[in-house]
Amino acid sequence: MIETVELTKNFKEVTAVEDLTMTIKDGEVFGFIGPNGAGKTTTVRMLCCLISPSRGSAFVNGMDIAHPNDRIKIRGIIGLLPETPGLYESLSAQRNLDFFAQLYGLSSTVRDRRIKELLTTLDVWDRRNDPVAKFSKGMKQKIAIARALVHEPEILFLDEPTSGLDPQASLTVRNYLLDLKKEGRTIFLNTHNLDEAEKLCDKIGVIQRNLLALGSPEELSSKFWGKATVIEARSLTPEMVRAVESIPSVRRVDLAEGKLLVELDRPDLNNPLIVRTLVERGAEIEYVSELKHGLEDIYLKLIGGPR
Ligand SMILES: Nc1ncnc2c1ncn2[C@@H]1O[C@H](COP(=O)(O)OP(=O)(O)O)[C@@H](O)[C@H]1O
Ligand SMILES: [Mg+2]
Repeated sequence: MIETVELTKNFKEVTAVEDLTMTIKDGEVFGFIGPNGAGKTTTVRMLCCLISPSRGSAFVNGMDIAHPNDRIKIRGIIGLLPETPGLYESLSAQRNLDFFAQLYGLSSTVRDRRIKELLTTLDVWDRRNDPVAKFSKGMKQKIAIARALVHEPEILFLDEPTSGLDPQASLTVRNYLLDLKKEGRTIFLNTHNLDEAEKLCDKIGVIQRNLLALGSPEELSSKFWGKATVIEARSLTPEMVRAVESIPSVRRVDLAEGKLLVELDRPDLNNPLIVRTLVERGAEIEYVSELKHGLEDIYLKLIGGPR
């Protein structure tokens, strides 16, 4: 579990993160989204005990990031994939991983087993003896992911894991993250790829220095938009639209391309009346569905459109 309370970081005149208060539960995949410079990396660096907060506090599995002994323990139970892989280019993939695994104090038997498991799963076992300098960006990213996981951390921090990768490499990484999610690992994922966040995450935080929104994709969707029902029907007429508009719980009705968009309170209670109203006036209903807003809509609403 990760808990932050009014976590704040100032760099001289820049406030990178301000008053961040949130909780991420065990086993949750948390997506932290926001534009460049929003404070995502700064937050992760504070939680991984690489930099100290200016104000506020945070706890990782109950351990205090401000407490020197706890900081050491936290480093042992987290894995971090930083923005840049930071591997030793002249060393082979295997030697890189072995070096970092030694820093975590793993025995040589455990190191060998883990490295083989990870490189095999990530489909780079055959290249284990090649120097990392020869690897493509996607392959380096896989090695960096393996490094973050070599000591079987309870909590994994991933800072933009697919940024700069080609679509195929992104997909491999994303599928691997889905596997990690199934294992029940707690994952903190910084991303500006909204599609990725929507596919992988149970909970989303939108940050732009301050936390602008927090919740599951569904919660954010219903929080930022009223409920709406979409009705597709043949032979819709303006008279039918007026009849639906006059229903008290209906706030707004739009008719476009044979679809009626009805904004209303409590669709579960009021949809039957709307459907009846239409059918009584001769409409032939094809589909009745709920209007859903994607993460992209929410993001644009909070952060603003093209700049
Ligand atoms: N070491 C640093 N020194 C000064 N300013 C920094 C430092 N690290 C980050 N910043 C600033 O803090 C803000 C947030 O940066 P960052 O956390 O990297 O954002 P993100 O990861 O969301 O793109 C930016 O304005 C950035 O320039
Ligand atoms: Mg960043």
